[in-house]
Amino acid sequence: MEKITVAKTAGFCFGVDRAVKLVYAELEKGGRVATLGPIIHNADVVNDMIAKGARIVSSVEELEPGERVVIRSHGELKSVLDHLERQGVTCVNATCPNVIRIQRLVAQAEAEGRQPVIIGEPSHPEVVGVASWCSHPLVFDGPEAVQRWLAEDPHRREIPLTVVAQTTCIRELFETSCEIVKKECTNAKIFDTICDATQKRQTEAAEIAGKVDVMVVVGDRKSANTRHLTEICSKRCSRVFQVEDADELPAGWARGCRAAGLT
Ligand code: F3S
Repeated sequence: MEKITVAKTAGFCFGVDRAVKLVYAELEKGGRVATLGPIIHNADVVNDMIAKGARIVSSVEELEPGERVVIRSHGELKSVLDHLERQGVTCVNATCPNVIRIQRLVAQAEAEGRQPVIIGEPSHPEVVGVASWCSHPLVFDGPEAVQRWLAEDPHRREIPLTVVAQTTCIRELFETSCEIVKKECTNAKIFDTICDATQKRQTEAAEIAGKVDVMVVVGDRKSANTRHLTEICSKRCSRVFQVEDADELPAGWARGCRAAGLT
């Protein structure tokens, strides 16, 4: 191989890195530590945490007395955090500050009598969590859904809307949704809450993939971010391998290639 380009943005984003460090810090303090769901879509890191004594629970009911719980970077349902507080469980909230900002925006919108609108994947844990910070959220997965909702009742154009995005929302989906809102609605506040880290990583991966013969995307199979990177690279490069580690690369993966990229 003549040239290998490694993405500068490769690796954990700030929010996930912070969550992982918070778990290790809790483990170092001793005592029992659980995470509510896997803290990160990365089997190596999760297995290491388990080896060091962490437990993964899927619901608050599974927590044992005296166990401290870490909330993952996607955030949690408000009702779950309230329940933990009522029960006196020591809770380390590793929700990414970018996600907390969105939770606050929707809560504040509702307090001001506005209708919160979230553009994102309705069943994604981050979106489900954000939606729980207000009592009547609207979640749209893209411009068609926004248009349909507005077309159902002409009076909806006059409802004061506050629009936010899932942190990992595909930019084009958010922007086309906002164009409809700006054109049709009389009172809309729009907050571009797409995470900068995701955006930069996707842009850089696309740039590298456009210049190399083979592109390798390393990430957990369950991660939406990993899948998005593979999709983006595949549009620019005809030879893309998505793997969890180097052992998964097939024999001859770089045969005949002069330049490789890695994210
Ligand atoms: Fe990561 Fe937080 Fe962005 S978890 S992808 S820095 S929203």
